[in-house]
Parts: sequence; C-alpha cells; structure tokens
Amino acid sequence: MNGDMEQLAIEIRNCRKCELWKVRNNPVVGEGSIDARIMFIGEAPGRKEDEQGKPFVGAAGKILDGALHANSIERKEVYITNVVKCRPPGNRDPSMEEIKACVPYLERQIEIIKPEVIATLGRFSSRYILSRYGFSYLPISSIHGRVFEDRLNDVKIVPLYHPAACIYNPALKSIFMADMRKVAMLLRQ
Ligand code: URA
Ligand code: SF4
Repeated sequence: MNGDMEQLAIEIRNCRKCELWKVRNNPVVGEGSIDARIMFIGEAPGRKEDEQGKPFVGAAGKILDGALHANSIERKEVYITNVVKCRPPGNRDPSMEEIKACVPYLERQIEIIKPEVIATLGRFSSRYILSRYGFSYLPISSIHGRVFEDRLNDVKIVPLYHPAACIYNPALKSIFMADMRKVAMLLRQ
C-alpha cells in the first residue's frame, strides 16, 4: 500500500464523523491496486464486509467476481471501495448525512488512484459520482452501461446496476454482465 492510502486507512479506522462508527465491526477502506486503471465504487459494506473489513466479499461480491472473471479482469488489478466505509445497521440505505461525512475519503482515494474508468455500482454511487463530475443523474435503469466521459479530468464513468440487485431480480444479471463487458472494452482501448 502506498503511504497516502496507508494514512487514509488509519484515518478511516479512527473516524467518528458519523454515527456509523458506533455500530460497525470493521470499516471497509477498500482493496486492490493503487495503480488500478479502474475503480469500482459500491454503496456501503454489508454483513460479510463488516465482519472481514473487505469490500464485496458476500453474495454481491460473488456476482462482481464472476463478472470480472468473465472478462479476464483480476480483482487485484482493480480497486474496489464504497461511498460509505462503515456498515449501516441492517443494511439500510446510507443517509445523506452519512454520505456527506464519508465521501471526502472516497475523494482522496480517487485522487490517489487517478483511475481512467470509474464503474459505479448502484444508484447511491452513480448519483454521487455523476453529479460530482457535473453530469445529471437519471434512474439507473435508464443510464446503466452508458459511458459518461469527462475530458477535462480524463475519466470515463460507467454506471452499473448494483450486483445485489441481480440477486433480487435475476433478469438484471445478463444486463449487468453486458455492462461489465463494455467496461472491460474501455480498458482494452
Ligand atoms: N454492497 C456494497 O455496496 N458494497 C460492498 O462492499 C458489499 C455489498
Ligand atoms: Fe467515518 Fe465514514 Fe465510518 Fe461515518 S461511515 S464513521 S464518516 S468512515
């Protein structure tokens, strides 16, 4: 891990900027390569992630892993994190306050990694990242798989369905897989 990311991890482990620190077991900083060309950004840790302190290690993680594997992308060559670093109790949606308190960490991760592609997983992450780069957010059902290019910052944003949505609605799985293929194509350019 590079020094800046190490420092960030220490800050997140000690963070008390929102109420979630009281109920988490382990914050989930993120995982992967500092030199990643692509960042995947989810919503918030779930139960397994909170237990292990690692992103996407539960059922949603299996779907993400499968989609990466199908495109010959290794988990260790990408960087995976979330908008919110501590688990909201019972996997409830993160609140506006929690997101606001936590996103400075995500901002620093983007700054450190400088990804060429940001793939946002689900509506929370898509909404935050698109608006942060000046794009207007529309429902994920209408924007998934679209490439939003910010030429100024030299970054492409691709919103994807959240892999957990594919568990609740299996029809979304093939859409998720097709969108991931598009993401992989961007990396081959
Ligand atoms: N869902 C998320 O949004 N992030 C994780 O890390 C796990 C499940
Ligand atoms: Fe801090 Fe983010 Fe955890 Fe809230 S969710 S305590 S802001 S690290």
